[in-house]
Amino acid sequence: MSGPLDTTETGGETHDGVADALAALLPEWLPTQRWFAGKDRDITAVRALSCTTVTEGDPLLLHLVVEVEQDGRLEPYQLLVGSRRAEVPDVAASATIGEVDGATYYEASGDADLTAALLDRMVDGALVDGLLFETEPGAELTAGLRAHPITTEQSNTSLVYGSQYILKLFRKLSPGLNKDLRLHRALREVGSQHIAEPLGSISGTLDGEPTTIGMLQRFMPDAVDGWVMASTSVRDLMADPSVSPEDLGGDFAGEASRLGRAVADVHADLRAALGTEDADAAELERTVTVMLERLDRVADDVPELVPHVPGLRAAFDAMRHHEVPVQMQSIHGDLHLGQVLRTLSGWLILDFEGEPAASVAERSRLRSALRDVAGMLRSFDYAAQQLLVGGPDDPVLADVAMRWARRNRDAFCDGYAEVAGTDPRDAAVLLRALELDKAVYEVAYEHANRPDWLSVPLASIERLMTEGPS
Ligand SMILES: Nc1ncnc2c1ncn2[C@@H]1O[C@H](COP(=O)(O)OP(=O)(O)O)[C@@H](O)[C@H]1O
Ligand SMILES: [Mg+2]
Repeated sequence: MSGPLDTTETGGETHDGVADALAALLPEWLPTQRWFAGKDRDITAVRALSCTTVTEGDPLLLHLVVEVEQDGRLEPYQLLVGSRRAEVPDVAASATIGEVDGATYYEASGDADLTAALLDRMVDGALVDGLLFETEPGAELTAGLRAHPITTEQSNTSLVYGSQYILKLFRKLSPGLNKDLRLHRALREVGSQHIAEPLGSISGTLDGEPTTIGMLQRFMPDAVDGWVMASTSVRDLMADPSVSPEDLGGDFAGEASRLGRAVADVHADLRAALGTEDADAAELERTVTVMLERLDRVADDVPELVPHVPGLRAAFDAMRHHEVPVQMQSIHGDLHLGQVLRTLSGWLILDFEGEPAASVAERSRLRSALRDVAGMLRSFDYAAQQLLVGGPDDPVLADVAMRWARRNRDAFCDGYAEVAGTDPRDAAVLLRALELDKAVYEVAYEHANRPDWLSVPLASIERLMTEGPS
């Protein structure tokens, strides 16, 4: 799929200067964007790496890759930039980057007159000045659909074309084939029933490597987010705490169990498609070391974690006694209820890019499938406790949250065990350590971003400490 691509060459000659002028405006503008991941440090410089003219004329659509320099960090991001000389539509007004040579330049993902071109180029299999638009083998796409951006996203930007397709543009780029696309392709090859079919991709070149910048998938217009479904169920139960979860109309346990089966299916499919490796004692030791280092770092920043450090250390140390080898495989890496969709025919798993904070090399490493299980178990705790955040202490509601989480965590593991043939809870020491490691990560995240929520991972750590490995 690689061609003579080189996005380091700038696009149409007329826009060379524009790219540099835009780059000069971006240090002010980037931090206002939700998807910009570098809000923790000042931007010292932004440089244009490439500028491709996707649609010439007025309005104009440019694809821009910029390198953002911050203290000790250099990261590439992609932007869709529209430009208009005449009338600027409302959508553009709220996304304005600035004026260059009498034209208004703006973030173009909300401009349906411009974004339609991306799908059309894909249908054509176009190579536009180093950007390669491709369809996946066998995919038959309809051109000419208008797009709107979905509003729920945090770290990337996705455009929905006529409720048929969804195009995800990866905002922060890393050289090479994107893990989300790689795993989707692998899962499609083995016939997975639990993914939204990959239909196309866009790639350019970064650091001399063909690099994924976008992925098109089938869109499921009737699907419901797992987080939304779970939250509704918790809310129902909290509205009438006297009802036990199993008697509740909105009980989620059946879905949680089906979700467990779907995740186990996906894990088996990933093993079939991409193989496994055995981790020996030395590898396990490295994992323990990484967990202990993270614990120390987070405890330095968050005093509330300090009382739990001895218990957490003991939980991580205990992993050293786990039976080796441990089977490693490609996993999702960032599995939670917001990454799964309930469709009419069952659960789909989305977004295989992996843990946002980890490096690409780190994300692509083979890992224990239990990490994904741990991620989902943490998510049940979050779903249960979210409604308590910021409210007064209410032991009745706290008890409801605990019961809901326990019931659904168990149902998820039951479903997983039915398909996998082994129960994740049997690897209690490992599963507990992985859950606690995730909770430590959450403590750091909440401390930095949503201090009100710190109580959620801390309460879970406390619970896991009291319960001990089952
Ligand atoms: N195929 C799809 N059908 C319907 N909705 C989808 C589909 N893919 C993604 N979404 C919606 O878009 C959101 C973000 O997608 P995701 O792949 O997780 O992107 P991100 O990397 O930005 O998190 C999902 O949580 C879901 O609500
Ligand atoms: Mg996601």
